[in-house]
Amino acid sequence: MLSFLTNQAGGLLAIALVAAIAALRRLAPDPTHKRELGSAVALFAGYLLAYATAQILAWLDFAEASRYGHVASYVLFAFGSVRVATSLVVWAVRTRRGRVTPKILRDVLDAMLYLTALAVVLRATLKVDLGGLLATSAVLSVVIGLALQETLGNLFAGLALQLEPPFSVGDWITVGAHTGRVLQVAWRHTRIATSRNEQITIPNSAIAKECVTNYSRSGEGVARDLYLELDYDSPPNAVKQACLEVLAAHPKVRKTPAPLFRTTKWEASGVQYQVRYFTDHFSEYETLADELLSQLWYRVRREGFTIPFPTRTVYLQQPKGAAEREAGQRDLVLLLGSVGFLQPLGEESLAKLVALARLQLFGREEAIIRQGETGETFYLIVSGEVAVRTSESREELARLGRGDFFGEMSLLTGEPRTATVVACQDSTLLCVDRKAFGDILRTQEELARALSQALAERSASLKARVAGAPASTITLESNRIFGRLRDIFRLK
Ligand code: CMP
Repeated sequence: MLSFLTNQAGGLLAIALVAAIAALRRLAPDPTHKRELGSAVALFAGYLLAYATAQILAWLDFAEASRYGHVASYVLFAFGSVRVATSLVVWAVRTRRGRVTPKILRDVLDAMLYLTALAVVLRATLKVDLGGLLATSAVLSVVIGLALQETLGNLFAGLALQLEPPFSVGDWITVGAHTGRVLQVAWRHTRIATSRNEQITIPNSAIAKECVTNYSRSGEGVARDLYLELDYDSPPNAVKQACLEVLAAHPKVRKTPAPLFRTTKWEASGVQYQVRYFTDHFSEYETLADELLSQLWYRVRREGFTIPFPTRTVYLQQPKGAAEREAGQRDLVLLLGSVGFLQPLGEESLAKLVALARLQLFGREEAIIRQGETGETFYLIVSGEVAVRTSESREELARLGRGDFFGEMSLLTGEPRTATVVACQDSTLLCVDRKAFGDILRTQEELARALSQALAERSASLKARVAGAPASTITLESNRIFGRLRDIFRLK
């Protein structure tokens, strides 16, 4: 059969094969197939070259060299055939069954077929028995055995990973000290990419010896833990409620299993709490921890809980002078006085309102109020920027900055919040509660009228933007709101 390859028919066949495979390569579904068929073309081209060289050597009367040239050409032809055959089988499995053959199986299959092809060619041409040679040469066997010890260990571990896979490509895993997404399971190693974009190559034999944690298999999310420490004056139940609200509001924290908040230790400077939440977004675990810890910080500060400092820290701070405090108050009174509907208030009433209000800091992306909730607080922006959104409208309704206000509608009418307001950057807000307003409104009747007019105008602008309808009759709305104000604040 091999003699066929030494005459022109073999050469013509190789040329035809090269052309056919090159055409097939264009149809190949992915780069791996293209690469494999490309190497088959190179092997057949190599065959043609070796064949031509052998012919020239024969013509020059170098019979022995020509013989080896022919042997090389047979080997190259056999290897090219193996390449095409395995590539087509893998392609067929992929098309028929929709399954991608693991790289490691393909590599093992290739290695076995190449070895067999080499053994057959050597036996047929040079009468060399590769199997016998390996079996009888004890020294060679020991040398090869030692050299392959590590490689074979990796190979068998790799095969075990294929048969009983604890992870697949795309899963997030931890092996030893390394955490990352599985990129490839090859016959000697597994490659993962960390969240820092490093590629780590772990020998399969090391994986076989280590415990593997897979974060992508549970279907119920994986738990992550965070730890906080707050001072001894912060009541644990109040801390728990506030922190659980922050967790419940985060879109990437699962509702079930529900987040847990536990008191874990009484430390030297405060009480330690553990926050456990479940998420389906393990790949973002670092960003998620950052977002949650930041949001918890803002919330904890607003609630008035203190984050303790180690007792060794010497914290030098000049208390604000009375003059500085007064200037701050005056600035707030001026800012509040610039709010349109509060203009009927005199300076004295504005100062009283500021004294009853409190300053709060909200972090970027924190929702300050949510559409549909009930609310009793009015907010004036002292610094920062917020966005007003509704579930009905895709567009943002408004961007508000220093001196702008929001939250007045629910506060004054008792109706649910008409929009969601989210901080676009860290924002300091002056928060005035219903009770403070009540005290002022009861002494200033005309303020209730002015308020109703301002509320009606805002409400009309909101409805017009959501529904595309013309602004409703503001006077009617103003009268309705005035009625609600009188009820809520029990005005005469
Ligand atoms: P309230 O309904 O209490 O809560 C949501 C707040 O968003 C609302 O009060 C207003 O203060 C504010 N708001 C609603 N619509 C608009 C708008 N079109 N422009 C600016 N702010 C608005």
